[in-house]
Amino acid sequence: MLSRGWREHGDLYRFRIGPRDFALFTGPEAHDFYFRAPEEQLNAKAVYRFTVPIFGRGVAYDTSPEIMSEQLGFLFPALREANMRRFALIMFDEARRFADDLGDEGEIDLPEALNELTVKIASRSLIGQEVRDRVDTGFAEAYRDLQKGINVLGFFLPRLPTASHRSRDRARRKVADLFTGIMAERRKSGTGPDDFMQTLMNARYKDGRALSDDEITGILLTVLFAGQHTSAVLATWTGLELLRAPAYVERIRDEAREVYGKAGSMSFDSLQHQPAMENAVREGERLHPPLILLVRKVLEPLRYRDRVVPAGTMAMVSPAVSHRLPNIFADPERFFPDRFAPPACEDKQHHYALIGFGGGKHACMGKNFAYMQLKAIWTVLLDRFDFSLSSGFPRPNYGSWVTGPETPCLVRYRRRSEPSVFR
Ligand code: HEM
Repeated sequence: MLSRGWREHGDLYRFRIGPRDFALFTGPEAHDFYFRAPEEQLNAKAVYRFTVPIFGRGVAYDTSPEIMSEQLGFLFPALREANMRRFALIMFDEARRFADDLGDEGEIDLPEALNELTVKIASRSLIGQEVRDRVDTGFAEAYRDLQKGINVLGFFLPRLPTASHRSRDRARRKVADLFTGIMAERRKSGTGPDDFMQTLMNARYKDGRALSDDEITGILLTVLFAGQHTSAVLATWTGLELLRAPAYVERIRDEAREVYGKAGSMSFDSLQHQPAMENAVREGERLHPPLILLVRKVLEPLRYRDRVVPAGTMAMVSPAVSHRLPNIFADPERFFPDRFAPPACEDKQHHYALIGFGGGKHACMGKNFAYMQLKAIWTVLLDRFDFSLSSGFPRPNYGSWVTGPETPCLVRYRRRSEPSVFR
């Protein structure tokens, strides 16, 4: 419906569903306008309030935009290159352990399997080793219950006492107890590894105040929710597209042989030299952006060219619609990673041609982390296994906030007889 709207009405149009008015901005110039609008005009907080019972009071969308950006700003040092170098090793290690556990052949539900893998990577690198150690003993379960708290009902009535909201609130308390316990241990021992949790424990607001344990828990949950499931979903779609592009998979394998030789080891640097792999992820982002709609509430009337969007409207951009514009991407329905390689470089025509990671002041802070993670996972998996879909290519499940494939989405795998490129 949204794509048809663009074909019939162009780069800005309005529509109504029930009592609500919506406006969709489509195409790089409209994105540029949308992402540059001030928070007083296009407001994110008014839309994302349903996250408050999960992230907690006083953090992220339950604070002023200034405090939220100060809180998220604490994390930038934790995403600097020195740490990204460490994260690359964690991603390699977790992907290899995952591949080892698969055995020689079998069948997996790909979204579920990659969800488990990315929970391990995210908890170990983004939160702390202690949380990774507890993934199988309670954390994964609590995290799953928290995820179930993100549902349609919760969007409109986040405090309604339903069964899923009650287990969401129980899970929130459990995670808070776990994180608070780890922080207490770290304070007692006087040391802690160089991770997000420690970065936040050492941080101070501009007025000199330290963050409370509950604020730290909330910020860690914000990052985990923003970064884990989205990564699992994009990893799944990228893999599914590759399964039906065997010639391109061979190019990724040739590239891996060149980069790693016969007994290589993956690192931050090696992952920068895999353009074929990287372009496959980028094409996954283009065709299957995990967040298909970004939404803001219009607080003051918004003038775009000769049109005015009234206050109260839900203003949106849709990566899913914009990534298939035929005037930007040639043959847009086709999986064709080379569109991003020279000479075409289709994504370079405009800085907002691809918007799978958003833009402007709310742009994703974890894009490089996500790309590195996806490249690491699929380099290892394609090195070890041949994959095939057990049934037809799945349709997107639009019923979920993060748009993955309909499940179950079964994939068969068999260990390759060729020797691994890794030591
Ligand atoms: C494939 C994986 C990912 C995708 C597709 C993705 C996508 C996005 C998008 C579209 C936004 C903008 C939302 C909006 O404008 O309403 C966003 C924001 C955000 N992302 Fe990501 N993301 C991914 C991974 C990550 C990771 C790994 C992290 C953390 C390391 C992360 C942290 C964040 C945060 C904290 C924000 C909020 C920024 C703000 O509002 O100021 N994301 N992400």
